[in-house]
Amino acid sequence: MAEISPAAHVDPSAEFGHGVSVAAGAVIGAGVVLGDGVSVGASSVVHAGVVLGAGCLVEELAVLGKRPRLRRGSSAAAVKPGALELGSEVTVCCGAVLYAGAVVGPGSIIGDQAQVREGARIGERSVVGRGSCVDFNAVVGDRVSIQTGVYVTSWAVVEDDVFLGPGVLMTNDDTMGRHPRGERLDAPVVRRAARVGGAVVLVPGVEIGEEAFVGAGAVVTRDVAAREVVLGVPAREQRRVEDAELLEHWRR
Ligand SMILES: CC(C)(COP(=O)(O)OP(=O)(O)OC[C@H]1O[C@@H](n2cnc3c(N)ncnc32)[C@H](O)[C@@H]1OP(=O)(O)O)[C@@H](O)C(=O)NCCC(=O)NCCS
Repeated sequence: MAEISPAAHVDPSAEFGHGVSVAAGAVIGAGVVLGDGVSVGASSVVHAGVVLGAGCLVEELAVLGKRPRLRRGSSAAAVKPGALELGSEVTVCCGAVLYAGAVVGPGSIIGDQAQVREGARIGERSVVGRGSCVDFNAVVGDRVSIQTGVYVTSWAVVEDDVFLGPGVLMTNDDTMGRHPRGERLDAPVVRRAARVGGAVVLVPGVEIGEEAFVGAGAVVTRDVAAREVVLGVPAREQRRVEDAELLEHWRR
């Protein structure tokens, strides 16, 4: 049986599975689907049409299914985002904001005050750290670890098992806004199992190869080959990642 606080605001068209709980002050919009065992914390807002898989945990003050607010004339305005979908056992921590049209895979965790924009896709068992942003249409794979305060720019691709250290900053526009309207931006690509250290900057379009290692504080201005270790500003190759460091020896 569902346990709905009398101080929650629940649209009558919302669908509930078994054992759902909704705390005081939460708002559940029209057509929302809450799977078995979903828990929605105090004062969280779940906008119309959001789908939460079984066992999802939403902490306090989170906003799910937010509509994008775009500047006047933005080319992105033509695209109407679909529903926000969370797979089973997703955790959304305090104050996180997840936009309509994003998809988060089973078992992933979205940290406190993190932001996941429209069209972003996050795979299974990935973590988006506190205050990090996964911008619109970015794709993040499975088992990815995004630490605190990371910016994954729009259209970026982050493959499975990547590690992004605290404060990693991606960029996607060399012109800083002075390009023809609607032109596709040039986001970085981070290949499978690459590790990117704290405060690294990736300039537009760079590719970090599989199992590559980027040392803390580097500014990456050129592609990094698979298994290269690069350091510095601008980042330069120092050595290769040893066999013993490869992910296959460290999977838990
Ligand atoms: C690269 C790293 C692993 C150290 O590797 P290391 O082989 O032990 O390097 P050493 O400390 O022996 O230093 C070797 C040289 O590289 C330099 N160096 C080390 N790390 C560097 C970095 N990040 N950027 C630039 N130079 C660096 C050292 O100053 C030293 O230079 P020197 O020979 O002129 O004195 C470490 O500095 C690093 O960047 N770790 C990433 C940590 C991180 O961001 N984690 C994220 C989760 S918290």
